[in-house]
Amino acid sequence: MMNIALVGPGRIAEHSLVPGLSKVPDARLWSVMSRNLERARSFAGRHGAAGEEVAHDRLDALLADPELDAVIIATPDKLHAEQTLAAAEAGKHVLVEKPMATDAESGRAMIEACRDAGVVLAVAYHMRWHAGHRLLHARVGEGAVGTIRQMRVQWSFQAPDNANWRAVSEVGRWWSLAGVGTHCLDQIRWFMAPAGGATTALRSSIARAVWGGPHDEQATITLSFESGAQATLCSSALFKAPTRMEVYGSEGFATCEGTLGAHGEGRIELNGEPLEYEPADPYAGEIADFVAAINERRAPEVDGEEGLRNVEMLLEADP
Ligand SMILES: NC(=O)c1ccc[n+]([C@@H]2O[C@H](COP(=O)([O-])OP(=O)(O)OC[C@H]3O[C@@H](n4cnc5c(N)ncnc54)[C@H](OP(=O)(O)O)[C@@H]3O)[C@@H](O)[C@H]2O)c1
Repeated sequence: MMNIALVGPGRIAEHSLVPGLSKVPDARLWSVMSRNLERARSFAGRHGAAGEEVAHDRLDALLADPELDAVIIATPDKLHAEQTLAAAEAGKHVLVEKPMATDAESGRAMIEACRDAGVVLAVAYHMRWHAGHRLLHARVGEGAVGTIRQMRVQWSFQAPDNANWRAVSEVGRWWSLAGVGTHCLDQIRWFMAPAGGATTALRSSIARAVWGGPHDEQATITLSFESGAQATLCSSALFKAPTRMEVYGSEGFATCEGTLGAHGEGRIELNGEPLEYEPADPYAGEIADFVAAINERRAPEVDGEEGLRNVEMLLEADP
């Protein structure tokens, strides 16, 4: 049984990560760290944390627990690096939320620290465990659309204002790009690899005019690949609409509507026919892979190198 702590008991931890963890048979929530001890205690109680000391308001105290195996880091983006380094130094495996870091040097330091400590570093791109996307990825890999020529991915949300930590620079670095654009980029990288080859060009257009804050409200990124394929992603904090992902190939195409999100649902069509799949909790999938990577002493499906490449591309798009 893998004992896993949760650092940062916010929205994604409450509604997705810890419910996902509860579905992984060989792992359990062990302890919780918040800046507020009462908040940690209440979260731990609500989710049945199993440790002796379930609530902490200091990371070093949480990490000092010899029965703790691993941590899930779900704090604002600029805190990920320092917390990952501390966890690695304490010999704990790390599943860190996306984007793993907000600068490339920190990302590299996280990879090195985890490698030197002999612990797994996984990055939480849960959309890789959407059952429909997984099935589509396999079918595309078998040639269902021929050679990929083009991808388009759009994910947006309607923010009520720009008070969110992602919109300001204290603990955030990008807004729509960090919230959802980084997932779109991950899907493009996943579907394009390895046949698409390396990225040969990246262009971006970043908009901040509605609220005028320091971070992207909307972003459009276009990518070109060695194979001649291209991809476009659009992320936005300014409107709510069904998400879209489209894959066009030399011999067919696929469309995904309403699939990008937390619930593992949505409609997928492959070459004009519905692609049937059994919806599954994508967070349970990502945590099960993290636990299996630890047990099997293998790399997780999304490792630090892949997470870093994503960060480097965000930096190139919006330096
Ligand atoms: N993969 C996904 O589907 C997905 C979806 C959403 C978010 N995320 C990622 O998960 C991470 C957390 O996002 P979230 O939406 O859960 O954010 P959130 O609701 O704001 O939660 C973050 C938690 O971090 C803690 N924290 C520590 N220092 C903080 C600070 N200076 N300012 C604000 N909070 C601080 C807070 O808990 P205490 O106040 O109790 O310390 C807070 O509840 C981000 O990296 C985000 O990109 C991933």
